[in-house]
Amino acid sequence: METQSIKFERYQSYDILLGNNVINQIVAKLSRMGFCKHCAVLTNELVAKWYLEPVLAELRSKGFEVFSIILPDGEEQKSLQTVQKIYQDLQKAGLARNSPLVTLGGGVIGDIGGFCAATWLRGIPFVQLPTTLLSMVDSSIGGKVGVNLPNAKNYIGSFYQPSLVGIDVAVLRTLPLTQISYGLVEAIKHGLIADPAYFKFITKSRGEIKTKEPALMQRLIRRSLNIKKMVVEKDELDKGNRAILNFGHTFGHGLEILGEYRRYHHGEAVSLGMLMTLCLSKKLGKLKEDYFEQLNELLVDFSLPVKLPVEYSALALYDSITSDKKRQKESIKFVIPITLGSVELMDIPLHDLPDLLVDILGMMK
Ligand SMILES: NC(=O)c1ccc[n+]([C@@H]2O[C@H](COP(=O)([O-])OP(=O)(O)OC[C@H]3O[C@@H](n4cnc5c(N)ncnc54)[C@H](O)[C@@H]3O)[C@@H](O)[C@H]2O)c1
Repeated sequence: METQSIKFERYQSYDILLGNNVINQIVAKLSRMGFCKHCAVLTNELVAKWYLEPVLAELRSKGFEVFSIILPDGEEQKSLQTVQKIYQDLQKAGLARNSPLVTLGGGVIGDIGGFCAATWLRGIPFVQLPTTLLSMVDSSIGGKVGVNLPNAKNYIGSFYQPSLVGIDVAVLRTLPLTQISYGLVEAIKHGLIADPAYFKFITKSRGEIKTKEPALMQRLIRRSLNIKKMVVEKDELDKGNRAILNFGHTFGHGLEILGEYRRYHHGEAVSLGMLMTLCLSKKLGKLKEDYFEQLNELLVDFSLPVKLPVEYSALALYDSITSDKKRQKESIKFVIPITLGSVELMDIPLHDLPDLLVDILGMMK
């Protein structure tokens, strides 16, 4: 098992453990961290079927008394109603200030569990055990936790860092290929914003990624973690350069809103969003290395969408993009690709956006 440490000035620093079949070592590390030996595990029904018992058995073998909270599956669970239900369960469990909440699942469980940990008794320790590729390469580190309002994604939240992140790639064996593709979009993004060799590595290793070969997946996750860690350590509160992690997300969020969160999964929307942003960069005359075809071909190979629906108008897209919480009053921030591996932040005035969108739609249909 390998260990990386993520170091913050303002927040607690923590270790990220990564390996194959390492749940026993992850729990052993947790048991040495000095927390109260009374903890809760938050998961969902689907993940519980595969992995809850082995995790509970490990925790009990290390002397933990464990209370499980099992939610239904799905993004709809990221709501204040579920938070309320979890608080009631935490009260029933009698979780004390130094009792950890362990989140076992994908980004939904990590985000909602982290938010509950941040607010229960004004903050209890929490441990992330991510089980999807997306949560391993992205959502489990960086400390963004939160829930949705109806039709307003991640509007309620906080920065709250876990005490430990334990990634066991063995759990990927049950993850469907569609979910691997969605997580891979974030890994591809990491390559495109910061590491061209990583993008080439993903392109070359696509066959092994599809078979979820554990050593290869571990390599992939390590490289993504290194990039995300490097970016968030320098900008803990998302006030500056951390915005580069939003590459493809400004258009992506707009597409999610336009499709009422049903038409596109986040990964699919970001897949289209990255291609749209490449078109935007071309239009603005900023793109110095055109890798549209390479990216397009890789996304197609992972069954990700690369064409916009013909019925989507520039006006509808404008409305959905400008309703995103990241817009400012008169402009919207975009992460503009320059070459493979480098990007720039750019504020685009809202009044320039409609014409640009007409051109982008023309280039993407
Ligand atoms: N906090 C952050 O920085 C951050 C970053 C990116 C995304 N997110 C959030 O993450 C969420 C998406 O996360 P996600 O893609 O992991 O979705 P998810 O948590 O809904 O998991 C996807 C599906 O995979 C299933 N699953 C999980 N692990 C499995 C396994 N090992 N085997 C079989 N099935 C498994 C889940 O039950 C679910 O059906 C969104 O809510 C998004 O807003 C947060």
